[in-house]
Amino acid sequence: MSTQFKQIAGDTYWVGKIDNRQVPFHRLILAKGTTYNSYLLKTGKPTVIDTVDMEFGREYAECLAGMIDLMDIHYIVINHTEPDHSGGLAALASQALNATIVCTEIAVPELQEMYKLHSRNFLVVKDGDTLDIGGKTLLFKETPYLHTAETMITYCIEDQILFPCDIFSTHVAVENLFSDEAGFDITEDYKGYYAAIIHPHRRYVRTLLEAVKDMDIRMIAPSHGFLIREDIPKFIDLYATMSRETTQGKKAVIVYTTIKNSTKKMAKIIQDCLQENNIGTEVWDADKSSTADILNSIASADAVFIGSSTKYADMIGNLEDVLKELQHMNLEGKLAASFGSYGWSGEAIEVIQDYLNGTNMTVQSTSEVIKTTGMTHVEFPVRVRFSPKEPEKVQKIKNAAEFVSDLLLSSI
Ligand SMILES: Cc1cc2nc3c(=O)[nH]c(=O)nc-3n(C[C@H](O)[C@H](O)[C@H](O)COP(=O)(O)O)c2cc1C
Ligand SMILES: [Fe+2]
Ligand SMILES: [Fe+2]
Repeated sequence: MSTQFKQIAGDTYWVGKIDNRQVPFHRLILAKGTTYNSYLLKTGKPTVIDTVDMEFGREYAECLAGMIDLMDIHYIVINHTEPDHSGGLAALASQALNATIVCTEIAVPELQEMYKLHSRNFLVVKDGDTLDIGGKTLLFKETPYLHTAETMITYCIEDQILFPCDIFSTHVAVENLFSDEAGFDITEDYKGYYAAIIHPHRRYVRTLLEAVKDMDIRMIAPSHGFLIREDIPKFIDLYATMSRETTQGKKAVIVYTTIKNSTKKMAKIIQDCLQENNIGTEVWDADKSSTADILNSIASADAVFIGSSTKYADMIGNLEDVLKELQHMNLEGKLAASFGSYGWSGEAIEVIQDYLNGTNMTVQSTSEVIKTTGMTHVEFPVRVRFSPKEPEKVQKIKNAAEFVSDLLLSSI
């Protein structure tokens, strides 16, 4: 079925593609298919909000051309650069030659590179900026990491319509656009979408809830699945509920060895960050504590961080005794991460990682983080060159500790 359009309010039109295929997406199969929802606001300065999947770009541009002279399009708002929404931009921009592309700063180079748009006009918007589109005003709120760094949401102040792109979406190939016309309760689909796409980034749901708190929203017009115009508070509240932290006390154990305290400082940064996130902590210098005490502490932990600096290409002190014992313990269900300060190669950190991989704990790795969340700013093992005094190094350690906190505190 080709790209279609429908009026959803005054001069606002849904232009989209219903994709009935069970497409693979984010390592899921979208059993119920999905839709790619784009919107055209036929105002004094006609504006398109998001596009459709790359595969349907050409027919999308053709469909839009049946609704408006593409040369009249003034703005193309790109809330999120992932090509299931920005994918129609190449086809559209090549004909909408007068259009300025509106997005966040991080999105600019991504769109330029992906769609060869280096010579196009971009308007970078920041959190809270507004844009007059000729009789209507758009308000932009940055919602980083929901679910990628450059993401924002767009709110039409006069119409009280929120265009949140991936957020508040459902993966269902709907024929009836509105959830109240679905003929069934969409709540399970809505929750399933949240769990798969948004929940890995639930720390940032707080930013989102803050952003929408003072908006009077009459309609949520997301970019997958149903548009919502009934029970809006209920659907927003579901994000609040599902992103809430568990109230069960969680404990993390940090074990390290150090020559000149750089790895100890890393341990302290990890500890402080975990504590700020209401995780209980126990910290052990393996050279000043008995192996038995450390192992007891680990046995009752939910997460274990193990670190050493590198000396002559190896770990230092008594740490290896602990790591050897861990191989024989049942540590199922616990999270584990290795860390350490190093000078030039940091072998110790990798050796610890190997030992952890020999246990039945869930060992954090950069590869897993990227595969499960798409985030590239969280790295495991946590490697810091020399002392962790520069802000970037501290941030790197915190990112890792926050990531583990989020996993521990997830309530779904
Ligand atoms: C005797 C000695 C040997 C070292 N050997 C290595 C090495 O093989 N590879 C490396 O990456 N760093 C090496 N380093 C650098 C340390 O790992 C680095 O200074 C680190 O910040 C020390 O952290 P710490 O204070 O926690 O022990 C060595 C340092 C010393 C003093
Ligand atoms: Fe996305
Ligand atoms: Fe999407």
